[in-house]
Amino acid sequence: MSRYEDLAAEFGTPLYVYDLDEVEAARKQLFDQLPEPFELFYALKANPHPDLLAALRSGEGRKCRAEISSTGELANALAAGFAGSDCLYTGPGKTFGELREAMSLGVRMFSTDSVTDVQHVGTIATELGITAEVLLRVNLATASAGSGIRMTGTPSQFGFDAELLPEELPQLRRVDGVTIAGMHLFPLSNTADEEALVGEFQNTIAGAAALAEQLDLPLRYLDIGGGFSIPYGIPGGRASYPKLRHELEVALDTHFPEWRQGTPQLACESGRYLIGASGTLLAGVTNVKVSRGSRFVILDAGINTFGGMSGLGRLLPVQVGTDAETTQTVSLVGPLCTPGDTFGRAVKVPDLAPGDVVRIPNVGAYGPTASLLMFLGRPSPTEVVVRGDEIVSVSRLDHSRVYSNQAVAR
Ligand SMILES: Cc1ncc(COP(=O)(O)O)c(C=O)c1O
Repeated sequence: MSRYEDLAAEFGTPLYVYDLDEVEAARKQLFDQLPEPFELFYALKANPHPDLLAALRSGEGRKCRAEISSTGELANALAAGFAGSDCLYTGPGKTFGELREAMSLGVRMFSTDSVTDVQHVGTIATELGITAEVLLRVNLATASAGSGIRMTGTPSQFGFDAELLPEELPQLRRVDGVTIAGMHLFPLSNTADEEALVGEFQNTIAGAAALAEQLDLPLRYLDIGGGFSIPYGIPGGRASYPKLRHELEVALDTHFPEWRQGTPQLACESGRYLIGASGTLLAGVTNVKVSRGSRFVILDAGINTFGGMSGLGRLLPVQVGTDAETTQTVSLVGPLCTPGDTFGRAVKVPDLAPGDVVRIPNVGAYGPTASLLMFLGRPSPTEVVVRGDEIVSVSRLDHSRVYSNQAVAR
């Protein structure tokens, strides 16, 4: 039996297997493609599992900080050994309650998306007698790259519209309890094309420099975002960016001549690149049926287990692996009572029968917590963390199937 079959036999399916060696390899690969000094935030939305987080914040070489968007993610970051001061808190709808909790637990840096967002941070910082650092997330009017998931240059809940900042800045400067430490830009995600990624970073760096000058706003900190790519649910490796380091150095030398001395301190962010390749989903075949000439392979993992974010309305290009040759084309579906629970309609697979186990690769990012975990009340998948042949931990996110009035705080 292969290693994966052994694990599936021991822990059942659906089963996520994460390999810490792969997490550390990804962290090293990404840091090697970035200049120095440069900080790197791991975006917990990709996978908040504390063992994976611990591998990103410790060990040999350059270490990650944590980008969080909720108090739940903060709890996971702290459980993994990050300090509150290692975290950048982002998101356009921060509430007073979560700001109070985050600041009480030591978070001091917040990415902000509007005047009211900055005011909210200032209100809670003042209440707690501290000063919080805010980064102004900027939605530049211009964009560069043509590929990837675009998140700027259009109307958005994220970021200040760059053209309005000159008008809004006087108000921001009057907010008590905060220091405007710099800017945060996150124009796009998941770009395998190096030229497009470099072009976007060049645009971001030039845009931030021009805006800082126009606003007369010295930057202590500049987070230029991410966009680093890896396949999702299909075979393949992390994208490689051999020119990125040099191109970033050139752009930074041009626009921020003191960046090598840490003015501003540079940072970027990544979720999927750091963690995607570490994860493999093992799913069991529960049934195979033919309907009007089409063959359906029904798995015990559906969009409640993987790909929930993309499960409604669009199909994932999932490919499954087993040790056998692919012989047929099938619809690969999950166990849920909705036709939306479909991974793919023309997926090439070996001859599969109930009881077989298939592997879906590159699912370390945007797996369980990005899925419809609660939908139809099925248990969460088991998650096994390994380092080579050693099993580090076995866990399962617990969600109650019963409603409890006591859990509701009034
Ligand atoms: C602000 C921010 N940072 C980081 C990420 C992580 O993106 P990725 O997993 O593609 O690296 C995202 C994803 O949407 C994001 O919005």
